[in-house]
Amino acid sequence: MAEKIRNTVVIAVGNQKGGVGKTTNTIQLAGALAERGRRSLIIDLDMTSGATKALRAPTEGWNSSFELLTGAENAEDTIITSEESEVALPPNIHLVPSSRKLAELDTFLALNPWLIHQDLLIEPINRLRGKYDYVFLDTPPQKTKTTIPALKVADFAVLSAMPDHLAVSALAEALSDIVAAQRHANERLALLGVIVCAVPRPKTRLARELVAYVERTCVDAAGHTLKFSTEISRSVVVQEAQKMGQTILQYQGDHPVADEYRTLAKEFEDRLTALRQRPPIPLTEEVTHA
Ligand SMILES: Nc1ncnc2c1ncn2[C@@H]1O[C@H](COP(=O)(O)OP(=O)(O)O)[C@@H](O)[C@H]1O
Ligand SMILES: [Mg+2]
Repeated sequence: MAEKIRNTVVIAVGNQKGGVGKTTNTIQLAGALAERGRRSLIIDLDMTSGATKALRAPTEGWNSSFELLTGAENAEDTIITSEESEVALPPNIHLVPSSRKLAELDTFLALNPWLIHQDLLIEPINRLRGKYDYVFLDTPPQKTKTTIPALKVADFAVLSAMPDHLAVSALAEALSDIVAAQRHANERLALLGVIVCAVPRPKTRLARELVAYVERTCVDAAGHTLKFSTEISRSVVVQEAQKMGQTILQYQGDHPVADEYRTLAKEFEDRLTALRQRPPIPLTEEVTHA
């Protein structure tokens, strides 16, 4: 039987700061979306291979996001599927692993002066559209060589934030990057939402401040907050599941954090449905600097 053609939504998961939950949220959200019958591809664009390691996939010896970005291999030949026998990926989550070779991307670009850095993901993503419900681009900390092509090709950005002392300034920087990407590379790019995660219960002052900042600053031009109302609690179950190379939904499906990700996945899809009916209003400079 022919594969069904899917309406692929490409999501860049960002925030230039490391350790703010980008990779965790990408994997868990993909896991919760899988429970809703969706198929996701995670492209690990981070040289430190957070998603690849959390999914217990190889960081060496396999095609990686480096071959995908450089066009050395067709995009579909860089994917590890959940049917692969040597790597036990969660159901309906496929992965393009990353590798240390991403460090050579600068050299590659210098040797290929006709290639345009910001366009590196266009052809690979075009080849993959129709095969997945969601393609998540898990970006590295810092604005490295892979974040720019990710923001160029994405339909939406999702930001991740964790309560700590640097969270607010990191988010402000991430928002101005989205505005810059809209201006210089991708007019269609819209911020779909901000996930606030690893929230201690009861909420600390820092967590309350972060939530208030996101609610006030991350708004669309109509003034609606872009913060996802579902917040993800801080819990050791996140690390425990990661150690097993599983999603929390697989590892302990009745855990409250698993339920939070289910609720988040519903909110995420409801938002996408609403935007399909009403095109997004882009962020403006005034909005992000309010
Ligand atoms: N809800 C949570 N509760 C506890 N720890 C978390 C939670 N979410 C993420 N973490 C931990 O925080 C660290 C950073 O998360 P990660 O997703 O790797 O961030 P990033 O991809 O932004 O660098 C990891 O050790 C991860 O296990
Ligand atoms: Mg990461």
